[in-house]
Amino acid sequence: MPRLLYIESSPRKQRSASIEVAKVFISAWKSKHPGAVVDTLDVWNTPLPEFDGAVLDAKYAGIQGLPLTPEQDAAWTQIRSLASRFHEADLLLFSVPMWNFGIPYKLKHLIDVVSQKDLLFTFDERGLKGMLDGRAAVVIAAQGASRNRKEHQLAYMDTWCEMVGITEHHHILIEKTLFGPEVDTQAREDASLAAIALARQV
Ligand SMILES: Cc1cc2nc3c(=O)[nH]c(=O)nc-3n(C[C@H](O)[C@H](O)[C@H](O)COP(=O)(O)O)c2cc1C
Repeated sequence: MPRLLYIESSPRKQRSASIEVAKVFISAWKSKHPGAVVDTLDVWNTPLPEFDGAVLDAKYAGIQGLPLTPEQDAAWTQIRSLASRFHEADLLLFSVPMWNFGIPYKLKHLIDVVSQKDLLFTFDERGLKGMLDGRAAVVIAAQGASRNRKEHQLAYMDTWCEMVGITEHHHILIEKTLFGPEVDTQAREDASLAAIALARQV
């Protein structure tokens, strides 16, 4: 049974453009895969550990190939459990608002927590090797304006997908959500059509 991990990162919920289009995508994807499982990870309602203290020490111990102390191992448990949700999925779907040319800090927090050696990637002298290969990712990105210069939203998500080994990554852009209700509605409708077409393909 195919499994989709949906990572929701707008706190605007009912008013959010990225969530609205992501829901259209999920509905179209579920009609193509009856019985498929959707696991939702809302970064605003999921406790994420602070990345300091024993968690940080565990990360560096892992990088150096040292055994974890019992305290580090306990701190790592929540991280392993979050990372396992990425491994269990066949498809990752992100709804991502643009915040200050980048992604919301809560999504960055999740990414910083789960992107760990031996969980989502390995590395040695030859370089990085992502461990999520074979999966696909879709990023539904909302932007208040358009043609943001030097944007770090899609560019960042593309780079992260490649780091964890996901070569098949797609995005749908909803632009100009702050340009008044008519422009916003049109942008959401255009993106929803693109989402339905993409859901049939991935
Ligand atoms: C903190 C914050 C920062 C923002 N920064 C930008 C930005 O740099 N560029 C832009 O085009 N829109 C920016 N916006 C507008 C959002 O991208 C826009 O409202 C978008 O629709 C948010 O996605 P959502 O509707 O899914 O929440 C910002 C909004 C917030 C709340």
